[in-house]
Amino acid sequence: MCGIVGYIGSRDAYPILNEGLIALEYRGYDSSGIALVDKGKMTIYKTKGKVNNLKTLVDKKNAKGTIGIAHTRWATHGVPSNVNAHPHTDCKNRIALVHNGIIENYTILKEQLKKEGVTFKSETDTEVLAQLVGKYYKGDLVEAVLAALDIVEGTYGIAVVAADNPDILVGARRGSPLVVGLGDDDKEFYLASDASAIVRHTKRVIYLKDNNLVVLTRDSHQIMDLDKKILSHEVHHIDFDASTLAKGGFDHFMLKEIFEQPETVKNAMRGRLIVEDGTARLDGLNLVMQELRQINRIIFAACGTSWHAALVGEYMIEEIAGVSVEVEYASEFRYRNPIIDSQTLVFVISQSGETADTLAALREAQRRGATVLGICNMVGSSIARESHGGVYLHAGPEIGVASTKAFTSQITVLALLTLLLGRMRRISHSDGVTIAKALEDIPDQIKKILKQNDSIKEIAKKYSRHDNFMYLGRSFNFPVALEGALKLKEISYIHAEGYAAAEMKHGPIALIDKDMPSVVIALKDSIYDKVISNIQEVKARGGKIIAIANEGDREIKKHAHHVIYIPKTIDMLSPLLSVIPLQLLAYHIAAQRGCEIDQPRNLAKSVTVE
Ligand code: G6P
Repeated sequence: MCGIVGYIGSRDAYPILNEGLIALEYRGYDSSGIALVDKGKMTIYKTKGKVNNLKTLVDKKNAKGTIGIAHTRWATHGVPSNVNAHPHTDCKNRIALVHNGIIENYTILKEQLKKEGVTFKSETDTEVLAQLVGKYYKGDLVEAVLAALDIVEGTYGIAVVAADNPDILVGARRGSPLVVGLGDDDKEFYLASDASAIVRHTKRVIYLKDNNLVVLTRDSHQIMDLDKKILSHEVHHIDFDASTLAKGGFDHFMLKEIFEQPETVKNAMRGRLIVEDGTARLDGLNLVMQELRQINRIIFAACGTSWHAALVGEYMIEEIAGVSVEVEYASEFRYRNPIIDSQTLVFVISQSGETADTLAALREAQRRGATVLGICNMVGSSIARESHGGVYLHAGPEIGVASTKAFTSQITVLALLTLLLGRMRRISHSDGVTIAKALEDIPDQIKKILKQNDSIKEIAKKYSRHDNFMYLGRSFNFPVALEGALKLKEISYIHAEGYAAAEMKHGPIALIDKDMPSVVIALKDSIYDKVISNIQEVKARGGKIIAIANEGDREIKKHAHHVIYIPKTIDMLSPLLSVIPLQLLAYHIAAQRGCEIDQPRNLAKSVTVE
């Protein structure tokens, strides 16, 4: 996803901006660029591909300037190319602008500008915004930006500089996050779409709200609304540092994050699990117990991996707490006509808290009068701020584009919610204690699975040349099959289908042959025998089986070509364990194929466009 960094102060801007772009690489991008203003002159460097390409380009020049803006682009309008990369300028090259989001009425505006004699260089919607600012610029950058924003429709997070005005950096947001960093003695300022781009320099930040504009000079910062009314603001303290973001000795962030799970799962339940009472406390929900008791329906809206976690939540809550649950793709929910009554509670689940579809689902549910709660990882994210309450994952920044630790933390939080709702309704104290104790054991059980990393790598080596995979699971582990297939697709570009094991015979079985291995989650639970029958169906068609089975299961070896054993837990918590080998398998297969694991092609960590 696109990323923005800006700097104004007394130091050379280029190294700061370059460092910020590198920190934003994890979000996924296809090109990058930078604009520096020095002595009334603006210099722009931009290039397709990695930030390192940009560095090679800039290093050859004498990049000067103590004010600048920079961008990593993830193409939405126009192919990834040098020309389409940001910053974009007006036709007089006086204004440079970087933009995250989408200008929806850009075609009409572009036509109008063309009629007025403006020539366009790129295919982007962003250039229209840059040209508009240029059109209105008569020496006052704030006025020009406000005039341009007044006529654009859509979403934006922007940073703007003017060649003849080296003492002012302007930013604005509507629907795309933007954070202001307060530097040393408030004599230098940063602007970024994500705090990780500036955390090396400052921990004091202001999160801009929608329709906020920020004016940064070398000794002041001012936040206003789009009518120029000055707004008060809160300064937040970021609690993660640059070293937290480093790979910590692992080859990739994804592997590091997989190995963090014993800790992150523990963090998700810390202070919340009350083992002796067999329940949980989730104070952030901001709901009194009475309200929680009255709800009879829950809607989960989410995307991607978070949607898979929501599906696990559905199985857990319906089974244990007896509350009816619906799981919606956020992108569908926002354009449907969902039925929400006073007893319906809506949860949006999002690691980043910035996914555009999920944020829109939140707003749609709120419009319909629902109480909307967020399950997010990123503190201070848009979803966290706009929901009525919620639960943080406390998993630390997740850098790998393919989500791993956020998934298990989401399931942990959903298990806590299940306990809380269940104990208010139909589960006894002793059943609650059984679940709570099982949850407490999960981090150590994950550690045990991670010890099998090398043997999972060996299996991965055997299968890394296959082009098609099937993932099968049932009940609580059906969503895990979907997640296992998604992991493999995301990072290895191998075609993988995730299916409810018994549903496979209604179509996908046609795909099975000796070249399409199946990864089957076959745990010793109430439907073990059924899953074994599904394995036979695959084997009868020549398919190879990699089984995820419980320790102590002696039978499974007879049915599977490879077995990865995991410890036994209660059925509802088994996804927290069964997903770990699937994450490792996907990782090692992708590594064998030499794929770019942390930033897979075409994907973004945080999708802030529709
Ligand atoms: C993107 C990422 C996925 C992620 C999804 C939802 O597509 O590539 O890994 O699951 O967004 O992200 P969220 O931050 O809302 O959980």
